[in-house]
Amino acid sequence: MSSQNPKRYTITAALPYTNGPVHIGHLAGVYVPADIYARYQRIKGKDVLFVCGSDEHGVPITLKAKKERITPQQVVDKYHEIIKRSFSDFGISFDNYSRTSAKIHHETASEFFRKLYDEGKFVEEVTEQLYDEEAGQFLADRFVVGTCPKCGYDESYGDQCENCGTSHNATDLINPRSAISGSKPVTKETRHWFLPLDQYEGWLKEWILEEHKKDWKTNVYGQCKSWIDDGLRPRAVTRDLDWGIPVPVEGAEGKVLYVWFDAPIGYISSTREWAEREGKDWEPYWKDEESKLLHFIGKDNIVFHCIIFPSMLKAEGSYILPDNVPANEFLNLEGNKISTSKNWAVWLHEYLEEFPGQQDVLRYVLTANAPETKDNDFTWADFQARNNNELVAIFGNFINRVVVLTNKYYEGQVPKPGAFSEEDQNTLQELQAAPEVIESSIERYRFREAQTKLMDVARLGNKYLADEEPWKTIKTDEERTRTIMYTALQIAAALSVLCEPFLPHTATKLRGILNVSSSDSQQANRIENSWKDISEKEELIPAGHRIGTSELLFSKIEDGQIQHQLDKLEASKKANETMNAAVEPQKDTISFEDFTKLDMRVGTIISAEKMPKTKKLLVLKVDTGIDTRTIVSGIAESFSAEEVVGKRVTVLVNLAPRPLRGVESEGMILMTETPDGKLVFVNPDDDVPNGASIS
Ligand code: MF3
Ligand code: ZN
Repeated sequence: MSSQNPKRYTITAALPYTNGPVHIGHLAGVYVPADIYARYQRIKGKDVLFVCGSDEHGVPITLKAKKERITPQQVVDKYHEIIKRSFSDFGISFDNYSRTSAKIHHETASEFFRKLYDEGKFVEEVTEQLYDEEAGQFLADRFVVGTCPKCGYDESYGDQCENCGTSHNATDLINPRSAISGSKPVTKETRHWFLPLDQYEGWLKEWILEEHKKDWKTNVYGQCKSWIDDGLRPRAVTRDLDWGIPVPVEGAEGKVLYVWFDAPIGYISSTREWAEREGKDWEPYWKDEESKLLHFIGKDNIVFHCIIFPSMLKAEGSYILPDNVPANEFLNLEGNKISTSKNWAVWLHEYLEEFPGQQDVLRYVLTANAPETKDNDFTWADFQARNNNELVAIFGNFINRVVVLTNKYYEGQVPKPGAFSEEDQNTLQELQAAPEVIESSIERYRFREAQTKLMDVARLGNKYLADEEPWKTIKTDEERTRTIMYTALQIAAALSVLCEPFLPHTATKLRGILNVSSSDSQQANRIENSWKDISEKEELIPAGHRIGTSELLFSKIEDGQIQHQLDKLEASKKANETMNAAVEPQKDTISFEDFTKLDMRVGTIISAEKMPKTKKLLVLKVDTGIDTRTIVSGIAESFSAEEVVGKRVTVLVNLAPRPLRGVESEGMILMTETPDGKLVFVNPDDDVPNGASIS
């Protein structure tokens, strides 16, 4: 195992499904921490490969295509572009962002399967699978919904329960129903290939439960332990579907690789794509024991990255295994679970448009609230407060004071210090200790703690200025003032390096302001500091160096901007209520003959009166075109007698007459309901005459 001082880092971030754009939940759980880690290792001079790509197979994509009446390819093309671009605009520093529809991925995944197949690592079995007779299709994974056998949640998917996180087989569901047609599936025989996870149990016990007991996060370790303790079963790695990578063996027509078989191999394909482009060798990143492989994921991906994919890698035989899988819990939004389908989310591409140039604010807030050990909540009020009270008031304020005063007192030149006081020395010492303090948190995947320690450096700077008051000493002691400003400038220079993993856009801006460069700049006579330099160098920014002019690093976020975001969320809540109300499950099917038995006509209400001593009933006289008849209708709570007179309505005229409170009712008026429960008439267009029949 290569934890200590690896030769290189292979860092992966979960491939996002291309059935929707990326939202803050994805960012907080996976991409921001992965990016902090990758940037941190790079700035330390490590050999880092950070890969990702779009996960373009799987049932959710075909369901989305069905819903939008476009092809799955159109769905993935659309979201791949949006996702790729928003990651790049946001500053997630992937070395490569690929996609699983790429040729290289089809090849890599097929070869991988083929090798396991040839070496007899799969179990081939004919089993009973759920089948939707109406849709003419097998139902696996998200094509089936039903009751979770473990926790009883009745909206569990075929492959995984979102309520308790358990992963199961579709046939385990109680009362399954098809997500395509809503019908009750039958079972039908089909042949599939299974990865016999039960055979890996002993090895997994040792590898995870023994070797990684100490270094894996407790949430990750706990989930793994519970799965292993429950006993592992063979897991099908093929599916009867027409969207995915064809199973590369004979006699497997109409079958594709299970999305969770192909997707993680996407990390490998993305690496190969990068290597081809850069003229590098991909294999050491995946096969050299001295590489450290890390998977950044959300908690719903734990079983796949800790048990299934490692078992695949183990079965293949030539790959290294993940050193760690720092999975996060979930981020909620304003107290509710983030949901793509319910549009309860803050979408990255929308954020980037609405808060231009403010990528780092979102990064900062998501890290400050990262769901590292438990689910956490994102609120816009907190977003505003953290920006205004922390980024602006602490970090921005410190830099601004240093830069403004240096320009004012010394025309932008770093002054030559005199003798250092004890306070100066203590402050500089604390500054030198900062990299190690931040590092120890990052190395343990505690990014929120690490970021707090970064802010402590800005706090140190603010406190130093407040205590030493150069704006006062300038009137009495020039030399003392020079020393203070020199010291403060060292802190500013250190911040421009230390903040890079967390706030990369800010780091670039700050280096511009200080007129120092990053390691990739071509500038001559450049002042360049590495992470290590902060603890080791005597000075980070020398006397005589000319800095630039002040520019605000962060700006205040106003109430109006926050209100606008809250209004957007409110609107999607409303839209959802409307949608949900409309979707009542379909009733049992009826025959055409059943339907023709109904005689529905267009009519007009010609008089109405309240039925005495009742709350709900109106006694109506309705012109049905056939006759004028009496209908008793339960609508009095929604309408007064006066207001319904003259209304055009749809009437079921051949409903057997029945007495209601002593009045014979000779039909039924068709009604529907608004989302907030108000009754409304189903009224025909005005130019249809009374008596027109509805068929
Ligand atoms: N698409 C999956 C999700 O969003 C993650 C796939 S990760 C990979 O949950 F390893 F399979 F690539
Ligand atoms: Zn469950």
